[in-house]
Amino acid sequence: MAIIKVGKGDLRGRDKAMSELKEYFSALSSRKGREITYNIRTYGCQLNESDSEKLSGMLDQMGLTEVTGDASADVIIFNTCAVRENAEDRLFGNLGIVKADKKTDKDKIIGVCGCMTKVPENVEKIRKSFPYVDLVFDPQQLHLFPVYLRDAIGKKKQLVNITSEDYIVDDSLVPILRKRKFRALVPIMYGCNNFCTYCIVPYARGRERSRDISEITEELNTLAAQGYKEVMLLGQNVNSYKGTNGERFPEVLKAAAEIKEFNRVRFMSSHPKDVSDEIIEIMSSYSNIETHLHLPLQSGSDRILKLMNRPYNREDYLKTAHYFRQRVPDGAISTDIIVGFPGETEEDFKGTLEVVKECAFDSAFTFQYSIRPGTKAATMEDQVPHDVVTERFGRLLELQNDLAFKSNQAKVGKTEEILIEGQSSTAPDILTGRTLSNHLVNFTIPEELRVPGKSADDYEGMLCDVEFTHARPYSVDGKMVKLK
Ligand code: SAH
Ligand code: SF4
Ligand code: F3S
Repeated sequence: MAIIKVGKGDLRGRDKAMSELKEYFSALSSRKGREITYNIRTYGCQLNESDSEKLSGMLDQMGLTEVTGDASADVIIFNTCAVRENAEDRLFGNLGIVKADKKTDKDKIIGVCGCMTKVPENVEKIRKSFPYVDLVFDPQQLHLFPVYLRDAIGKKKQLVNITSEDYIVDDSLVPILRKRKFRALVPIMYGCNNFCTYCIVPYARGRERSRDISEITEELNTLAAQGYKEVMLLGQNVNSYKGTNGERFPEVLKAAAEIKEFNRVRFMSSHPKDVSDEIIEIMSSYSNIETHLHLPLQSGSDRILKLMNRPYNREDYLKTAHYFRQRVPDGAISTDIIVGFPGETEEDFKGTLEVVKECAFDSAFTFQYSIRPGTKAATMEDQVPHDVVTERFGRLLELQNDLAFKSNQAKVGKTEEILIEGQSSTAPDILTGRTLSNHLVNFTIPEELRVPGKSADDYEGMLCDVEFTHARPYSVDGKMVKLK
């Protein structure tokens, strides 16, 4: 399958569609006597978050205003995730809910994009059960969204655009409206070649393709000049990055860390097979690279890892984890674990628990294995019964919750720099942010440090020192001691 690099010249049709839509929505706004709005519902990972920022950028240029949450809007886009069955169920549930909206307003547009559209059964289900969805397009063709949107407006028939090609479109060619004023999501590579036997991502996101390092560094410099404090380098396997002239991930990581305006350089998701000692050395030598490594384990049993097509064993994994702990002593390791992969025995599962204990993960995303039709594991014999999976899952959660709590407890009494993410969702007077090690912190601002006229939300993107006072299962409490 070919990988097609899209250039500026290839986007004339898209630009034309964009200006036509601008006119269309402006006329619609006059007709309705109000502004025209859009709402994007994003499921799944940071790659989808990044894609949604591009959809927002395009809709913003067409003159639309964003509304968030479950609010109804003139254009509603569902940016979907296919990684587990429950992510898919959520979409179908929510599509059912917007049906009534669509009935009362014939100008309303409903679109579905994202990874679910790459599974033919899903597209078929949308066609049959949700015929009022106006357009369906896949993540590889996000840059052509304005063309599809224009073509779908006023049509009775559902417009479906799914390609078998993989495109690479540089971020500079797509308008981006970033969600957070301090954090820039910067995809550096797309797709996955690993075909772990349980996983849908290689089918949904296509083959690996990396951006040119010159295009990445240009974007990073622009972001620094715009005042972004945190940059998040993204890729399904971010450290499998391969530049056109043989550049590898360490070069991209260093290039980002060299930009002193960035207080935080983060990266997601790294595959254990590509976490070299060199990467860990770089992490330990730059003070603005997060001291947090996401190292997805999946299973602690060599037999299961082999069946999963994960090309490392327990010993390799532990070696990497220990090296990181040694070189980055205040650092944190997070992981992804699947419970109940086909054929997993009690002994295999105990292997996972042992690795979890030995690594003392600071946090973990734990999942019950979900059959993904079309993947190799879907047809494997010995699918583990549901009750066995939930029982094992409970044991894993109990162990991991204890480890996460201990990791938070170890912070109590210390003072560290926090990048403020905004107001806490539960208490308006409390701010929330993260340490360099990615620990979530909720903290108060003493009266004397408050800036007159500033509301809690205005602190977003600022740095401060916080003294940690109390540990919770998933966060640390503290109080600000210095605003920077
Ligand atoms: N590329 C990343 C992971 C992307 S998907 C990596 O390899 O590390 C995020 C996580 O979802 C995976 O790490 C895995 O733990 C989980 N996952 C993927 N497919 C799954 C499935 N079929 N059932 C349950 N969990 C799954
Ligand atoms: Fe899925 Fe494996 Fe690729 Fe990660 S490396 S996206 S788990 S196939
Ligand atoms: Fe989901 Fe697609 Fe990300 S399947 S996890 S949104 S790459």
